[in-house]
Amino acid sequence: MAVNMKGKDLIEIQHLSLEEIYQIFDLSNSLKLKQLSGEPHRLLSGKTLGMIFAKPSTRTRVSFEVGIYQLGGIGMYFGPNDLQLRRGETIADTARVLSRYLDGIMIRTFSHQDVIDLAKYASIPVINGLTDLHHPCQVLADLFTILEKKKRLSGLKLSYVGDGNNMAHSLLQGCTKVGMDISIATPKGYEPLKEVVNEALENAKYSGTKVLITNDPSEAVKDADIVYTDVWASMGQEAEAEERKKKFMPYQVNSDLVKYAKDDYLFMHCLPAHRGEEVTDEVADSSNSVIFDEAENRLHVQKAIMALVI
Ligand code: CP
Ligand code: NVA
Repeated sequence: MAVNMKGKDLIEIQHLSLEEIYQIFDLSNSLKLKQLSGEPHRLLSGKTLGMIFAKPSTRTRVSFEVGIYQLGGIGMYFGPNDLQLRRGETIADTARVLSRYLDGIMIRTFSHQDVIDLAKYASIPVINGLTDLHHPCQVLADLFTILEKKKRLSGLKLSYVGDGNNMAHSLLQGCTKVGMDISIATPKGYEPLKEVVNEALENAKYSGTKVLITNDPSEAVKDADIVYTDVWASMGQEAEAEERKKKFMPYQVNSDLVKYAKDDYLFMHCLPAHRGEEVTDEVADSSNSVIFDEAENRLHVQKAIMALVI
């Protein structure tokens, strides 16, 4: 039975029920088929999405802007210098004002609390397009991609190797919600936040999945169905990039490491990739790699999210 998601914010995957996640996937699939066959699907005719970006973006900006257009609406891009937020207008007032014009807001910013506050004061749905803590749209697109390729989610094992960052956090929440085992290998001191690991452990109690946090990449990747990595220095951490390169080199996803995974493993990366750092060309361009399918699915999955919440 359909779950009514109208007006719902998407701030982190933890706030979605399993029914809501599968409803997003079902609609993503049908919108993808319509898009590919050229069938119009103007579910948001005349609607407007505001898109606030405090950080750069290729995939998120283009997929949201194209997505709302394909649904019959229009997207408005606000870069880091465009809104009065930059000159001290509060998040709360910005939320109240934008709610008088727009039908939905997508925001990419640094502080996760800013997204929580925006959603609190906005009367329209707010979608998190990445914060320092979470990247829910990416992980929903990733899980949808896994479902397309493997025809199931439950019972699979995803291994994430690299920084315990926003991607690691959203994957922890997402995998344990849908019944996948997750193992995460990071250098010492770069583990995912305890509070997010605890949320994943809580989910795992219900879904019956395993969660492993380790500093040993080969232990994490053992028998993996999916090997996932992300940049070693995220947006905002540029000053640490050189120091991180040294510490993270043993965590590179290369042909030696993926030998521990199953033969038919999928390689995934949210992109942008720093080739030669967290992943070698050999792995990123191998027949196991689905990195561009993930990128494409951002479009279909976010169209489904917008159509459900706006
Ligand atoms: N994966 C992702 O969010 O990419 P962008 O930073 O290009 O939006
Ligand atoms: N962890 C990366 C993800 C980019 C999509 C970052 O925050 O820069």
